Amino acid sequence: MHQSIEQLYNEFEHEIKTIASTNDLETLKVKYLGKKGPIQNIMKELKDVPPEQRPEFGKCVNDLKEDISKKIDEKQNILVQSEENQQLLSEKIDITLPGRRRFIGRKHVINQVMDEMIEILIELGFSVQYGPDIDTDYYNFGALNFAPDHPARDMQDTFYIEPGVLLRTHTSNIQARIMESSKPPIRIIAPGKVYRNETITARSHVFFHQIEAVYIDKNVSFADLRATLDQFFKKLFQCDVETRYRPSYFPFVEPGMEVDMRCLNCVGNGCQLCKHTGWLEIAGAGMIHPEVLKNGDIDPEEFSGYAWGLGIERLTLLKYGIKDIRLFTENDIRFLKQFSGQ
Ligand code: PHE
Repeated sequence: MHQSIEQLYNEFEHEIKTIASTNDLETLKVKYLGKKGPIQNIMKELKDVPPEQRPEFGKCVNDLKEDISKKIDEKQNILVQSEENQQLLSEKIDITLPGRRRFIGRKHVINQVMDEMIEILIELGFSVQYGPDIDTDYYNFGALNFAPDHPARDMQDTFYIEPGVLLRTHTSNIQARIMESSKPPIRIIAPGKVYRNETITARSHVFFHQIEAVYIDKNVSFADLRATLDQFFKKLFQCDVETRYRPSYFPFVEPGMEVDMRCLNCVGNGCQLCKHTGWLEIAGAGMIHPEVLKNGDIDPEEFSGYAWGLGIERLTLLKYGIKDIRLFTENDIRFLKQFSGQ
């Protein structure tokens, strides 16, 4: 064999042994068999070879080319096989392993308690209505007898979207709407979110949930209000809970009260949740103000009504002995999954 051919073949043999991937093999192939490779160069030497030796020289070069191609093909087969094996190995599934547990989402504890409350109130004869979260100053304040300069109307307390349009500060915004759209007897509840521009603490938040109740008919009395609320609490807590009614001022009720419940967390002994008073405020309530009835086109001489707004977070704190209202919105799965519920 021509000396340069032999040398080239030896170099190739040495080099191909070091190749470990199909990519590197492709580079080697281009290097030896490509247009600018050494075999092409040797071919160029053909013209300098004496004519009688040319056939033999030519044959040698062709044999070299064939040998190199063959070796590359063989190596290619081996490498493809081993790369496929590696891939299969990496994708291997151990079917004896136990399956991974999937976590199924569930209703947030606030929604669970809210649904429970709605169910009890439906049993007590109320039907459900929804009011808008974004509402006008009129429905949130004006129709409810708030004076134009009432502090609740201040930007400090209320989130305004634009002048006259706000995030409702209570579910009482349903009151005037329901009076406009239906005639007594009216017996509805309105659950939903409410928003207040407050400092976030363990007991208050910038948004929370309420259930409003409105009952208007002939001869509705404060005794009806109290009896219904007490019945409701009994069903919700499934025990005799102690409540007290403190006179309080809301422009849309007269008389107005705040309803407190004996703190179930400390059973009245005093704890952080009830600020060591033994009581927790859970609702505002009262007899609907004659002016509000008039705004709703209902004659206060003929009809009377009561309304209340229950704080759902507060009642949930009590029901489950939770110490901080912020936990409801922090989305810590460890907290949320304790309430397996529905
Ligand atoms: N809307 C009042 C509040 O959010 C509660 C309330 C409702 C009071 C109905 C009286 C009657 O504070």
